[in-house]
Amino acid sequence: RSVVLAYSGGPDTSCILVWLKDQGYDITVYLANNGQKEDFEGARKKALKLGAKELFIWPAIQSSALYEDRYLLGTSLTRPCVACKQVEIAQQEGSKYVSHSATGKGNNQVRFELPCYSLAPKIKFYNWLKGCNDLMEYAEQHEIPIPVTCKNPWSTDENRMHISYEARVLKNPKNQSTSRSLNEDPGGPVKVTNVKDGTTHQTSLELFRYLNKVAGKHDVGRIDIMENCFIGMKSQGIGETPAGTVLYHAFTMDREVCKIKQGLLVYTGFWHSPECEFVYHLEGKVQVSVFKGCESPLSLYDEELMSVKVQGDYGPIDAARFINIASLRLTEYHRLQSKVTAK
Ligand code: ARG
Repeated sequence: RSVVLAYSGGPDTSCILVWLKDQGYDITVYLANNGQKEDFEGARKKALKLGAKELFIWPAIQSSALYEDRYLLGTSLTRPCVACKQVEIAQQEGSKYVSHSATGKGNNQVRFELPCYSLAPKIKFYNWLKGCNDLMEYAEQHEIPIPVTCKNPWSTDENRMHISYEARVLKNPKNQSTSRSLNEDPGGPVKVTNVKDGTTHQTSLELFRYLNKVAGKHDVGRIDIMENCFIGMKSQGIGETPAGTVLYHAFTMDREVCKIKQGLLVYTGFWHSPECEFVYHLEGKVQVSVFKGCESPLSLYDEELMSVKVQGDYGPIDAARFINIASLRLTEYHRLQSKVTAK
């Protein structure tokens, strides 16, 4: 029995790795390079050559994909990207199983699993994570070194497109967030030069990196957001998407096309749906700025419910059933598509 595990090196994946091993699985560990700062130079070069960024970031930017008017989907984009490769590896290795460590709490379980059902409907999942307390206990019992404590959990998600932070001080919307110090001297306008049409891989990556650097320095594209998760809860987090933001504003979209943006689809994990296959090529240029804080007695946000510490009324199995239903039309769509292309 073999399984391909999407591994990040964080507490959740480390625990699930040990757990799978204890269950007697042969595990292929797959550490995806999404442009995060990680010590894998060789893997980085190879991944860039394979074009992970091109396949996901550009289509999202070209279609002006935006969720709830602000979120450029930096996390949402990586999950189908990771899932595609994971399925490919599973097929190479002859594994019937894939695994990730996203809890049913947020959106990421859906985003991992829907693409897998689209690409390989028969594949099965392993995920047992119940919440932070269980996880800490498990880690302690099995002597798994993890960098955070349950009292003070802090989650970061970083890739080429963005970096986002959740939990700890962010769990209370009254608090002002401080992911890093805001730039006190925003300076003059940021000018992008050397931008032609981004045709080659190398060129578009350099352009993206350059914009992340110069626009990031001026806090362009930094949001503090209270968003609606797919499953229904609200979630608060910080996101920094400098290059994505500049490019979002640089791509001027046709009025009618604008009505069919793919933000919601990408957010909810329907990257491989027919409606999401529309991509628009546009051009233009611009710049940005942002800011914070809210409080309401009628707030729908529930700190306890959203917390990673408690399981709440549903767990990964409920989320899996939810995904099973949601994936029906994707598996059917791809089954029919492959029948047509086989002809
Ligand atoms: N809430 C965002 C989303 O669902 C980001 C989630 C990941 N961020 C994190 N710091 N773990 O797309």
